[in-house]
Amino acid sequence: MFVLGLSLLGLAALPALGDAAAGRSVFMGKGDCVNCHSVGDRGGSVGPDLSEIGLRRTPESLRLSIVDPGAEIYREYLTVSAITKLGQRIEGIALNEDDLSIQLRDSAGNPKSFLKENLRDLRREERSLMPSYASRLSAVEIENLVAYLRTLRGVAVARRLETAGAAGAPRTRDIARVSENLTWLTRPDRDSDERPDTLVDALEIPRGATVADLGAGAGYFTWRLARRVGPQGRVIAVEIQRQMLDLVAQEVKKEALTNVELVLGSPRDPRLPEGSVDLVLIANAYHEFSEPEAILAAVRRCLKPDGRLVLIEYAKENSRVPISPLHRMSFNEIRSEVESAGFEIIRALDFLPMQHGLIFTKRQ
Ligand code: HEC
Repeated sequence: MFVLGLSLLGLAALPALGDAAAGRSVFMGKGDCVNCHSVGDRGGSVGPDLSEIGLRRTPESLRLSIVDPGAEIYREYLTVSAITKLGQRIEGIALNEDDLSIQLRDSAGNPKSFLKENLRDLRREERSLMPSYASRLSAVEIENLVAYLRTLRGVAVARRLETAGAAGAPRTRDIARVSENLTWLTRPDRDSDERPDTLVDALEIPRGATVADLGAGAGYFTWRLARRVGPQGRVIAVEIQRQMLDLVAQEVKKEALTNVELVLGSPRDPRLPEGSVDLVLIANAYHEFSEPEAILAAVRRCLKPDGRLVLIEYAKENSRVPISPLHRMSFNEIRSEVESAGFEIIRALDFLPMQHGLIFTKRQ
């Protein structure tokens, strides 16, 4: 109960909640969700692991998953239906497939293996193995389930960032050099890689807000943020390289914006005003900070009590990302470094094709 109480406090800022404890009972009992899904080290593996689902999904999309599981399905979870030459029909999700054979997991969780030459029919269908709960559970039970799923936020694997020289300890992560690669920053396909407009929309920044774009680069996000907060709002673009700030200035002029301030920061100090910023965006820059702990402490000081920190980094886990691993970070690297600096993760964006987008608030 104590643990549950704590995690609910962390959700104070989120929309109306059902009863998470009652939702957990539905998950483990009547709904039988645990048969197909695991949370922590408990549960089945027919459906995706839900240990961090509360970070990845909004309440609306969780509700949709429960009442209409077929609405959105990842390719690896399409229902595979196979009929053997003897006429036996098997349904499941595909675990492995090659030219000669396929391995399935059926809805009871059992692995099944077939040689393709023994199958009469094999197809993937655009429906989910998960049953719809629209008529199996009451509206209240569904709300309680959603509330429970919202509390599932995994745990950061403890891991502190040791900055160079700190107590003579080695760095646990190599830090990339400051990016000077303008061709990369202004490449034409950057919009399809980074979906900047979708990102800025998803952050739901109110008009009139004060936003800091920390490590603004050539101003790729700066002007979008400035439009978003409107003339009553304010965007502070921070860079440690003066030539980058000059580029931001050109962008601001081109877009005829009057609400952008340019600040030349130092590697330890972003020179942001204390207690006055609603949102700090650090996009593709954190991995280059030579003194990340000092910067995170400064970000913490500049944020209002309910302010948010948004970190965007190319994902180290994604092998298709065409940039050096030194310029990428894993989910856990970001989460553990930022959380150990006095923040708490509240959301992981799920629509960026190649990047992690993690949103934090200050831990009280
Ligand atoms: C027979 C197995 C099965 C049962 C029982 C089941 N699910 Fe699922 N679930 C799946 C599969 C397979 C998927 C992936 C395909 C899809 O998205 O529908 C899934 C997807 C989901 C997702 C979306 C996950 C994501 O990463 O986007 C959520 C949330 C979810 N289930 C919650 C539940 C809850 C809550 C229950 C119990 C009320 C439940 N499931 C019961 C098999 C199951």
